[in-house]
Parts: sequence; structure tokens; C-alpha cells
Amino acid sequence: MIPQTFIHDLLNRVDIVEVVGRHVRLKKSGANYSACCPFHSEKTPSFTVSPTKQFYHCFGCGAHGNAISFLMAHGGMGYVEAIGELASSLGLAVPQESGGIPEKKSPDLYEVMRQAAKHYRAELKKSPAAIEYLRGRGLSGEIAQRFHLGYAPAGWRGLSGAFPDYESPLLVETGLVIAEEGKRYDRFRDRIMFPIEDERGRIIAFGGRVLGEGEPKYLNSPETPLFEKGRELYGLFHARRSIHDGSTALVVEGYMDVVALAQHGIDFAVATLGTATTPVHVQKLFRHADHVVFSFDGDAAGRRAAWRAMENALSILTDGKKVSFLFLPQGEDPDSFVRARGKEAFLEVMKEALPLSSFLVAGLAAKCGKDSGEDRAKLLHEAKPYLEKITAPGLSLVLRKSVAAAAGADPAELDGLFGIKTPERKVFHRPRKSGHPSVVRKLLEMLMHSPSLATLVSEGCENFELPVVRKVEASALIGSLNFLKSGNFNTAELFEHFRGTAEGALLDEITPGVFILDEAGLGEEEIRSEFLGAWDQLQSMVCRAEMDALLEKSRSGWSEGDKFRYIELMQKLNFVKK
Ligand code: UTP
Ligand code: MN
Repeated sequence: MIPQTFIHDLLNRVDIVEVVGRHVRLKKSGANYSACCPFHSEKTPSFTVSPTKQFYHCFGCGAHGNAISFLMAHGGMGYVEAIGELASSLGLAVPQESGGIPEKKSPDLYEVMRQAAKHYRAELKKSPAAIEYLRGRGLSGEIAQRFHLGYAPAGWRGLSGAFPDYESPLLVETGLVIAEEGKRYDRFRDRIMFPIEDERGRIIAFGGRVLGEGEPKYLNSPETPLFEKGRELYGLFHARRSIHDGSTALVVEGYMDVVALAQHGIDFAVATLGTATTPVHVQKLFRHADHVVFSFDGDAAGRRAAWRAMENALSILTDGKKVSFLFLPQGEDPDSFVRARGKEAFLEVMKEALPLSSFLVAGLAAKCGKDSGEDRAKLLHEAKPYLEKITAPGLSLVLRKSVAAAAGADPAELDGLFGIKTPERKVFHRPRKSGHPSVVRKLLEMLMHSPSLATLVSEGCENFELPVVRKVEASALIGSLNFLKSGNFNTAELFEHFRGTAEGALLDEITPGVFILDEAGLGEEEIRSEFLGAWDQLQSMVCRAEMDALLEKSRSGWSEGDKFRYIELMQKLNFVKK
């Protein structure tokens, strides 16, 4: 568990303008910075970053948050990962809190993986059979070295050579050793070892291949605190530079494909880890490249996998980014293809990769047919959920046109039929429905805008559980006041305090109002008096509601205490009203 104090300290020291600025070209605009939003496609900037609040917000799509949120949303990072990234940018180590939930990624685990990989490498050098296997697959020693390939010998406890303390729980935690019925033994035995690295080049898992035939062909590390299959891409650390240079990433299915392609000078390939392509994968790749090419086998399973990848890419695509699908001839994979025909031939077929738009329309047409009216109606029906996922306005337009053409309909008819809104109006976070913001929301907006306002409130509002105030609103307000009074916190920290809670969801909802306040450019004095006015309003609402409840009760008899309270409330109300 990462201590909250550390997270707040981090948010205090880090500069969101710099964090966002690494990914987005920001322009100074008044006290804030602005840019075209990286989360949706637009021509005029509606994305705002506030250095005083350490917070960003997009008026167009509603995306917002602090530096941690930005790395999660834009960088596709997990929470702990984002904190680690911010910490390392400041040269800080993330401290661990003992007790509670154990912290996910411990430096010890990485070290264990590193030692294991070193051991497997040394074993490879000693194993003529393993070397021969890799040679037979066309790999040079240099490539084996570049990918840190190794070999796990056949014994049950080979790793005890590298780890004198074979009983260490870390070996089980990293998945290297299996503990079963009081016995311990190596997970990987007699296999070629492919270390799997994260984006920073740290080893987080292994894939192990049998030499020749055998089941399972590949054995992978289980999911561990270091390794979450659906987020990682094999080879990304090595491929990054080349992916950047050509702004293209190639996604293949197998470890061997990545390594063999690199052997032939194609080093912008990465592989999923025996799982379907996830949105996190797509997002990660688009951080480095504008064009992502998926290569799948030409068989039915390959087509299905490609379709899944397409579905997961739709909502993430923005105009200017491109996804294509490369289907190799039946029975070929990138490894066999590049070995048989070489680099140039591979680059040639890559040029013929099917753009996502064609793949989608052709796939739907193949599924539904387009001969009869009924076929074409089905095609329209099937297309709808796909079209609705697309947030990129240009792509949406083009695809609606192609789908309409495939169905022999007019694009305008299509929009009418589906009730598809123009994607420009599509928002990530629905704005508040309608009506006036409640007074509590107003107070929260102002507190988020200027956290120091909390010091103006001396007395607590005891009775918030009345129908005048929704429970979550009350607890967000009281929680915010208590939190802000306990230290000198900024907006980013207030937001962080409520991450993942119902109160946090409420803060999410009111964020647009916070930035509208910002735009309005009110002076400190004006906001102060607005805030105090709203506070008084809330006090009197609460008093009135309690008085009403007491009056209601009076029908069945009042206690002395009730009477006393009623008078107290009357006086308080008068005082509030002055
Ligand atoms: P392939 O069987 O296509 O792998 O599986 P490959 O790389 O082409 O294998 P060879 O060495 O050339 O025969 C693709 C990927 O699926 C996962 C692995 O990640 C593999 O790279 N997989 C496959 C497993 O996890 N376990 C298996 O038993 C097979
Ligand atoms: Mn293969």
C-alpha cells in the first residue's frame, strides 16, 4: 500500500503542466494553458490545464483530472504505475506502508526476475541442444542476446543454483517456483526462455518454449504482482525507438515472430502474450505510433482475433491514427514468412494491409450478405453498435458512408435510422442533466476552485441527513471541508482524496463548473462572498428542514428538548438571515 501522505506529497511537488506537456503541445492562455484535446478529436483547443489547481479539464469531451489521472487516461497506465512514473520523474522512490493490502510491485520481485534471467542466459550458453534449437530457427547469437533469450535446464530445482534460499516466498510470488503439497519445484524446465519486459525494460515475466514438440508448446508466467497479461506487449522495450522512427507498430501473435522479424531487420514488432488485443494494448501503441498494423494468421482463428482487436480499437481511434490488418497466406506466420522471403517481401505485403474501415465493412458484408433487402437491413442493424463506438468524427463519417453504400442506403438515411448523433457532440462524461445546481454543488465547485475557502467555515453543519441534501452531496461537502482544513491542499489533492468513491464521482460531475468559474475570472473577494452566501443559504435550508420536521412531530406531542431545539433553530435562522 502506498501511503496517502506520499501521494499528496507527490501531487504537491509534481507540475502537471510539465507532465501533460510531455505529451501535448500546450500554449499559455491567461493563467492557464490550453491545447487541442488529446482525448478527443478537435480543431480548436478546449483542453485546459491549470497550474494553480494542478488539474486539467476539457470543455469539449469532459475529460479531467490530476497528474495521476492524466497518466492513467493518456498513458494507459494503472494507478500504481502512474504514481511510480511521477515519483521516478522526481527521482523519488515509492515508499511502502506495512500492513493493509501489500503493495503491488516490490523492487525485490524485479531483482528476482533479473537474477533468474541471468541464470537462464548462463544455462543457454552451457546447453548445445538449446543453442542448436535456436540456430535451427534461424537466430543468430546476437539476436538471442539482444532479447536476453535463455534456457531452463531439465532438473526440478535448477533455480537453486541462482537462489541459495530456494524457500524464499519471492520465488513463488514471481511464479518462478511452484509450491504444491509442501513441495517446491521450478515452473520452467527444459524450455527456451523468453524474458518479457515492461516498457522500462524491467523483466516482469517469462515465456518458455519446449525444444521441438511437446505440450504445452509455450508455458508462461502466471499473473503476478509484476505481470498483468492484458497490459503488456512482448518486445515493446526493444521496439520503441524503431516504432517512433517509422511511427508504425506491428503487432504479431508470437514471441518467435517478434524475434525472427528483428533478426531480419524489422524491429518495430511486438506481440500480445497469448491473449486477445485489449484496449490498453491499443492505447499503449498509439502513444508511440500513428499507425498500428495487426498481423494475424489467415485462418478462421486469426480472423476472429483480428475482429476482436478491431472492436477494441474503435473507441480509442482518433482521426490521424490508423489501424490496419495484415493477413498472411494460410499456414504462414510472420516468422516463417520473413525467413522464407525476407525483409523486403514482408514490407511489401505490409503495405497491402487492410485498413480497419475496409475490414469492418467487408466483415459485416460477409456475415450478412448484401443480396436481398433483408440482408442489407441486417447489415445496417449489425453495423450500428460498431459505428456508435467510434469517437473520431472523421472516421465515423467515412464509415457511415461506407456502411450506407454497402447497404445501398443514403448516409443521411442511415443517421436518421440509427439516431446517431454527430460525434462532436459525444461526451465522455455526461454533463449534469438540467436545473440549478444545488447549493451544495455550488459550494463544492467553489471549494474545488479555491480550496483555501474551507478555512472560512468554522462551524460544522451537524444535521446534513435531512432530505434537503442528498447523502452523497453532504458527505462530499463535509469530507472536503474536513480534508481541506487538515492541511494546505490544492485541487489535485482534493480530487485524489476522493478517487474511486461516490463523493469522487460527484466531484467529477461538477468539474466543468469549476473551470467555468475559472473562465469567469472572478476575483478572490468575489468568490469569497459567493461562497459565504451559499454557505448561509445551506445553513438556513438545513435549519428550516429541521424546523419543519419538528413541527410535523408536534402533532403527536413535543418534548421539552424539542421545544428548546425549535427555538434554538429559530434564533440561528434569524442570525443567518441577519
Ligand atoms: P503460436 O503457436 O502461433 O506461436 O502462438 P509461435 O510463436 O508461432 O510459435 P512457434 O515457436 O513459431 O511454433 C502464439 C503465441 O500464443 C501463446 C504464446 O504467447 C505464443 O507466442 N501461446 C501459444 C501460449 O501461451 N501457449 C501455447 O501453448 C501456445
Ligand atoms: Mn511460429
